[in-house]
Amino acid sequence: MRIDIITVLPELLESPFNASILKRAIEKDLVEVHFHNLRDYTDNSYKQVDDYQYGGGAGMVLMIEPIDKCISSLQKERIYDEVIYMTPDGHTLNQRMANSLSLKENIIILCGHYKGVDQRVRDKFVTKEISIGDYVLSGGELGAAVLCDAVIRLIPGVLNDETSALTDTFQDNLLAPPVYTRPAEYKEMKVPDVLLTGNFAKIEKWREEQALARTQELRPDLLE
Ligand code: ADE
Repeated sequence: MRIDIITVLPELLESPFNASILKRAIEKDLVEVHFHNLRDYTDNSYKQVDDYQYGGGAGMVLMIEPIDKCISSLQKERIYDEVIYMTPDGHTLNQRMANSLSLKENIIILCGHYKGVDQRVRDKFVTKEISIGDYVLSGGELGAAVLCDAVIRLIPGVLNDETSALTDTFQDNLLAPPVYTRPAEYKEMKVPDVLLTGNFAKIEKWREEQALARTQELRPDLLE
């Protein structure tokens, strides 16, 4: 999979890709991530990427021309499955969307900034608009990092134990069951007996019951 991220602040995005699972996925060539600084696609000597909005109003808007140049130059090189725009008024990211994006070959992620991008960019280039939650961030970069993390960890081979992504919270629309590790007893707090029985059928049944009970209590909306 290849991900091209278009941003005015590449430095804000680099560190999540330099540690742990994302770093390993890149090193193992399971994913390629490329950052494109929008300012490199400007003609003006100020490297201006934004301007005042027509009709008046507070806040700057990212201009169409540098975005067009950047996206068009990428699309000349390869076919992209999606051009995603990170924006608080997009579809809220969920596990189903992450699963589906993890199967794509090439995607572009455009990070909004200030008041957002010129609407014509959304009309002409963008195929999917994604929000990471009902709150406003100062730009799309942190949202893009969240999206990439959620997607990249699902690419086969990225996690050591492949089954661990399959048992994540939200797979099957259920929250994950509780987990425990050593010691079996700590300050009178005991690990549930069933987990120490070695009876895997019983353990699996207990986990399913726990997952359902937790979902009913904490996220009944997932069961609707
Ligand atoms: N840009 C600003 N706020 C955002 C959000 N909530 N999700 C994605 N991109 C954003």
